[in-house]
Amino acid sequence: MKMTTNTHAFAQDLLHFIDASPSPWHAVHTTQQRLIAEGFIALNETESWQLKAGSRYFVTRCDASIIAFTIGQKPLLETGFRMVGAHTDSPSLRLKPHAAYSTNNLLRIGVEVYGGPILATFTDRDLSIAGRVMVRTTSDFEARLVKFDDAILRLPNLAIHMNREVNDKGLVLNKQTELPLIFGESDVGIEAEQQFLAHIAAELKVKIEDILTFELNVFDTQKGTFWGKDQAYIANSQLDNLASCHAAIEALVASKNSGSTSLCALFDHEEVGSESATGANGSFLADTIQRITANQGLSEEEKCRALANSFFISADMAHAFHPNHPNAYEPCHHAQVNHGVVIKTNVNQRYSSNADTAARFIQLCESAKVPYQQYAHRTDLGCGSTIGPMIAANLGVPSVDVGCPMWAMHSIRESAGVLDHTYMFEVLKRHFS
Ligand code: CO
Repeated sequence: MKMTTNTHAFAQDLLHFIDASPSPWHAVHTTQQRLIAEGFIALNETESWQLKAGSRYFVTRCDASIIAFTIGQKPLLETGFRMVGAHTDSPSLRLKPHAAYSTNNLLRIGVEVYGGPILATFTDRDLSIAGRVMVRTTSDFEARLVKFDDAILRLPNLAIHMNREVNDKGLVLNKQTELPLIFGESDVGIEAEQQFLAHIAAELKVKIEDILTFELNVFDTQKGTFWGKDQAYIANSQLDNLASCHAAIEALVASKNSGSTSLCALFDHEEVGSESATGANGSFLADTIQRITANQGLSEEEKCRALANSFFISADMAHAFHPNHPNAYEPCHHAQVNHGVVIKTNVNQRYSSNADTAARFIQLCESAKVPYQQYAHRTDLGCGSTIGPMIAANLGVPSVDVGCPMWAMHSIRESAGVLDHTYMFEVLKRHFS
């Protein structure tokens, strides 16, 4: 495949999706809007479902995870589920409940570290906050999304004159004392927390006393961009793993009138171990599958048969070879940016791929005319994991771990390839068709 206006337009669409999705709650909201525009019907977990062959649906849990699916025209028992999974969360900083406090006349915002970000990359960036706020209503409360488009927070570096060894030893930040973000000068006589909540209240046009609680994520206001020769690369925050979410949803949207039942599951909490009601190790996917099979009139035994006949693709980003650090990589397993989708293998089952599922994925690539690469981590380095192994374990479905190669995983500004994003879309579309 060559770089074309189509491959660039698709990567541009990804950058817009990420820019509109600075928190998992925003990512789910943006995805919902996209699905509604394409005729998907919203389901609610608390209500009864009536599913029709050929129709398309989605359901959310806790505003942070979403499962979209289409009921195929062929019997589910015959086709099984064609599934793709990815995650909506990214490593970051999250605000503590009483976030704002005042020291030395400055308002500071206390944060917790979410997952494993490269903390040094958060310094000197134009930061802001986005997330969900629980607001009192006359009878109850409701979740409201909030996002400040202007840069309102900052983590300035200490000048090199006070940190002479920073270029030799690297930037090390104490998570408790050296991560609080600067918000502004504190107003005399007003409690710090009230000053901060006033900003959220004004943005949401509600009273401060009606803000019950919140979950707020720190994000970089800099928009996504293309870079490099022929503008062949993209840079943005959260490419891990909003790039896979975007490719998966677009592939599902594009696979109209498919005979088989297709499903995209996008989970929160992957970066912190997936152990939650919304996480991949929770019941969300199993519950949804149970309801679909029951709706289609399958018995428990037939459900097991349908699952055994299913295929799950765990899509999460992969480590691209970095030419400045050749010793960080296993020989013969250098994944190159813009050279195709990466199949990830780990004998200790940190990835769910095995010879059977990898072969199946290779054949999907071949039929979609998409190049693929193989990745294994250096033996003396611990490798990350994905949602693949836990989904495979919980559901007993054949599963493979794949992803697009990227640089600077878990930096606040990550990089990947324009072509690889279209490759991922094409192979997932083939999987659903
Ligand atoms: Co990831």
